[in-house]
Amino acid sequence: MEPTADLFEIMRTTRSMRRLKPDPVPEDLIARILEAGTCAASGGNSQNWRFLLIRDAAVKAAAAVWWRKAWDETAGPRYRAGGPPPGMDGDKFARLLDAVDHLAAHIHEAPIWIVPCWAGPRGSGASIYPAVQNMLLAARALGLGATLTTVYLMHEKEAEAAMGIADGFHSYAILPIGWPRGKFGPVRRAPLSEVVFDGAWGTPWSTEKT
Ligand SMILES: Cc1cc2nc3c(=O)[nH]c(=O)nc-3n(C[C@H](O)[C@H](O)[C@H](O)COP(=O)(O)O)c2cc1C
Repeated sequence: MEPTADLFEIMRTTRSMRRLKPDPVPEDLIARILEAGTCAASGGNSQNWRFLLIRDAAVKAAAAVWWRKAWDETAGPRYRAGGPPPGMDGDKFARLLDAVDHLAAHIHEAPIWIVPCWAGPRGSGASIYPAVQNMLLAARALGLGATLTTVYLMHEKEAEAAMGIADGFHSYAILPIGWPRGKFGPVRRAPLSEVVFDGAWGTPWSTEKT
């Protein structure tokens, strides 16, 4: 779908886009995504982040081996053994799993990966994931598809070595980015009445209250 500037519409339609075209993404759009990332907050404004761009087919292929292994051997079978998440029926869940299978097989074909990294021991997710979310929203706003992926962290050492992450840093995601093959659509989530409590734990919030 089309670029859009309405923030709430962007949030409602920033879905994981796992089927991507291999066509290159213009550098100025990547710059806008990265600028959006670095607008995010980090603890103490320390900005101890680094963003590794990976375009090299051989590097992507080498890291993708570990992504695929984690999905095919561990995460995929675990998800398949469970039921659909809230807001999704069995059919939609099956389509989600198919889409992840597709990404596992093709992630290295995405024209560019952004790999957000943070200095120091692992555990600083709160300082890097706001930047990640900003980048996902920015990609969506520009009409580009992306997915937040972390499954490869099951083989963190091997995957980070394949990507050439420097000692003293950890990666927190691989974001494969490209032009989407499909259309953006609404995210599937449980309604607020199921997840928001008003005043006391277990008391559903309702807009009908006055
Ligand atoms: C912490 C985190 C890790 C994720 N890791 C993966 C992943 O490794 N592979 C993948 O295909 N999607 C991954 N996702 C995407 C979620 O599966 C996806 O956002 C969720 O199913 C909701 O779907 P939607 O983004 O299309 O609305 C991850 C999302 C989060 C927040």
